[in-house]
Amino acid sequence: MQDDPDLEAAYALQTPDDNRRLYADWAATYDDEFAVDMDYMLPLHVAEAFASVGGQGPVLDLGAGTGLLGAALKTCGIGPVDATDLSQEMLDVAGTKGLYAHLFTGNLLETLPVEDGAYAGAASSGTFTHGHVGPEALDEVLRVVRPGGVVALSINAEHWEAKGYDARLAELGPRIADLAVREVRIFGPEASGPHARDLSRVVTFTRA
Ligand SMILES: C[S@@+](CC[C@H](N)C(=O)[O-])C[C@H]1O[C@@H](n2cnc3c(N)ncnc32)[C@H](O)[C@@H]1O
Repeated sequence: MQDDPDLEAAYALQTPDDNRRLYADWAATYDDEFAVDMDYMLPLHVAEAFASVGGQGPVLDLGAGTGLLGAALKTCGIGPVDATDLSQEMLDVAGTKGLYAHLFTGNLLETLPVEDGAYAGAASSGTFTHGHVGPEALDEVLRVVRPGGVVALSINAEHWEAKGYDARLAELGPRIADLAVREVRIFGPEASGPHARDLSRVVTFTRA
């Protein structure tokens, strides 16, 4: 590893293998350094959005990492929740928290090891962003959710513009319903540094 992993390095990633390498190094310090130091609020925003539109378990947490969204979903009374992520090391940390029914590695840019329509909901925080996962993963999100199931995803606001999410969501057309978008701050008032005021959109919709 050349430098300590941080947000700048994460946003500059290019491939799933880059992601695997960075998050293998970041897993042990992600919660206590990154999430605490940056007053990381995004998982709570996503969980609240999911709950506010009637989301229910079983839910798949996409790019679950160390389980911060799983914890927020539990706070909102949502469960059971399964976790999937590219990084076994991040899932190993999540697994110590007793939040998830099942944890498994998977790549959102390919086909997850999940039956069609297996979940009543899907949620994701911090994964649809620079260097990680783009709108091409939305088909896979829809595949794993049953008709009538609820989806809540955070999508970094700059990444949204750069990758044309408006167009991609419009293309999904009749496959989704009840589309709503809210804008939130990714980090709370204790955050500092160049990304402290970064914005994310939290999109919710129902699989038609
Ligand atoms: C910034 S972390 C967010 C983790 C957690 N959801 C949170 O909010 O703390 C992004 C996560 O996305 C995962 N990831 C990146 N690319 C992925 C892909 N193609 N498929 C599945 N997970 C991916 C990374 O391994 C990492 O754990």
